[in-house]
Amino acid sequence: MYPSVEVIENNIIYTDADTPHSLTHTHIDRHTSISHEGGKRSKKSKLNILKSMEWAWSFFVYFSIILLPVLFIFHHRKKSSTNRLPPGPLGWPVFGHIFDLGTMPHKTMAGFKQQYGPIIWLKLGSINTMVVLTGKAAAELFKNHDLSFMERTVPCVLQSQDYDKGALSLAPYGSYWRVLRRICTVEMFVNRRINETASVRRKCVNDMLSWIEKEAHADAAGEVRSIHVARFAFLASFNMLGNLMLSRDLVDPESKEGSEFFTTMIRLIGWTGHQNTSDLFPWLRWLDPQGLRKKMDRDMGKALKIASGFVKERLKERHQGGDGRKDFLDVMLEFEGSGKDEPAKLSDKEINIFILEMFLAGSETTSGSIEWALTELLCNPTTMIKVKEELAKVIGPNRKFEEDDIDNLQYLQAVVKETLRLHPPVPLLIPRKAIQDTNFMGYHIPKNTQVFVNAWAICRDPECWEDPVSFKPERFLGSKMDYKGQHFDLIPFGAGRRMCVGVPLAHRMLHLVLGSLLHEFDWELDSNVTPETMDMKERMGVIVRKLEPLKAIPRKRMV
Ligand code: HEM
Repeated sequence: MYPSVEVIENNIIYTDADTPHSLTHTHIDRHTSISHEGGKRSKKSKLNILKSMEWAWSFFVYFSIILLPVLFIFHHRKKSSTNRLPPGPLGWPVFGHIFDLGTMPHKTMAGFKQQYGPIIWLKLGSINTMVVLTGKAAAELFKNHDLSFMERTVPCVLQSQDYDKGALSLAPYGSYWRVLRRICTVEMFVNRRINETASVRRKCVNDMLSWIEKEAHADAAGEVRSIHVARFAFLASFNMLGNLMLSRDLVDPESKEGSEFFTTMIRLIGWTGHQNTSDLFPWLRWLDPQGLRKKMDRDMGKALKIASGFVKERLKERHQGGDGRKDFLDVMLEFEGSGKDEPAKLSDKEINIFILEMFLAGSETTSGSIEWALTELLCNPTTMIKVKEELAKVIGPNRKFEEDDIDNLQYLQAVVKETLRLHPPVPLLIPRKAIQDTNFMGYHIPKNTQVFVNAWAICRDPECWEDPVSFKPERFLGSKMDYKGQHFDLIPFGAGRRMCVGVPLAHRMLHLVLGSLLHEFDWELDSNVTPETMDMKERMGVIVRKLEPLKAIPRKRMV
């Protein structure tokens, strides 16, 4: 039955396909002869079959010659668009873009937006890196791709003593991270608990105010002298965290372990802030070219040992009945998980690491922001007058700043927002990592790509912010915009599931410390500095802070 098809096929191959008539003719002749041999079909019906086959075949030929190449090109294009990386500048072989970024990478990266658009691709040594540069792209990431970018890239020094496995900020996305996050949001940084501990923070701020007064009046000639603002803000933040976490004054010079812990933590912060070649070329890790990992191993070991001493002491106290108070350490010790899809208890090591993390995450960020806020206010005298007038009106001359006042101080809140907008302490947030190959805004982002969200660039984007580089707290008055993760043009604390878990506490600490400094003192710049000559350069460390530390003269407010 089927030989006729074969014959027709042969004819198509061997006859002139452009002339259907000749083709038909040849078919018929051949087919006729073969059918004749078979002797089963009439000549007419055979002719009809042959005709319809011819059309089918013609269609097949045209399809093959014209449509297939078109489909091929279309398919190829589609495939290459899904495999397309985001655009970016040409990098150097081996080193990629590390020499192009300079000492302030967040600023250099921000400059690439003009040429390459809202997301760019960089190679940092051997590390594939995507950088998000606009609020819209950040919204896309946090709203629609948060899960795909849930992991963190872990710097080499923070792998020391397995710190990264126990720390909430670096732990892989999984049951342990979820448990810690839940403990933080439900037990530690919840409003109820924060309200209960207001008096502890107030006491730490009182201590700071009296240290400042003492330091400012230490001049033998009786003149009020300038003080190093960030140093005192750091001591206050560290002390608050020590009291919330461990119910201890860790900056008390009388306490030996306290002082030792404080010095060791300062060193940890220092090593963490160093640029490390091993992070750019992970195959160099074994060599530890700058010796940072070795130093970190030493100091991390020491800090964990001191923290472990605090925990042991607490366990002993609890054994003896305790004193009824419940701080963050008690919350950690009392945790009971199901033991099925989460741990039943937190291990000693996990608790020790968490203690260190609270200080690493909460002290520099807060004190650096206070320093920037006061710097901006001293450079903008009209703004300084407005914020002090508000404090005078709401609090009055006869009492101190209390956390309850924050809601009534709209201008102070606007000053804090404006400070964090212009000076986000963590300008690239904590780097995330792609868990899987992801199609993001039409680009192919391979698994393990490091992701920076450039909060600094976003918070100064002229497409979103009018007069973006000026310090104008007024822009927030009457606006609902805040930094709690819903407004993607203002993200100093990040957004999405891995957003800063300490925001409610940071919010209180920032307003309390800044508000108290402003309410208790009238501030002046050192005689050799004016608002015009103030050095606003930044220094990159574990956070970005002021390169030239702010020195200012505190004059006690006259009642
Ligand atoms: C001005 C103060 C602070 C700023 C600007 C800040 C900023 C940030 C940023 C940008 C992140 C990364 C968010 C992301 O990846 O999307 C973060 C994460 C984190 N912050 Fe803060 N932070 C501050 C204060 C605090 C305080 C006071 C604590 C706790 C005592 C804290 C604890 C944490 C923790 C544990 C994480 C990791 C969250 C996770 O990965 O799930 N932060 N912070």
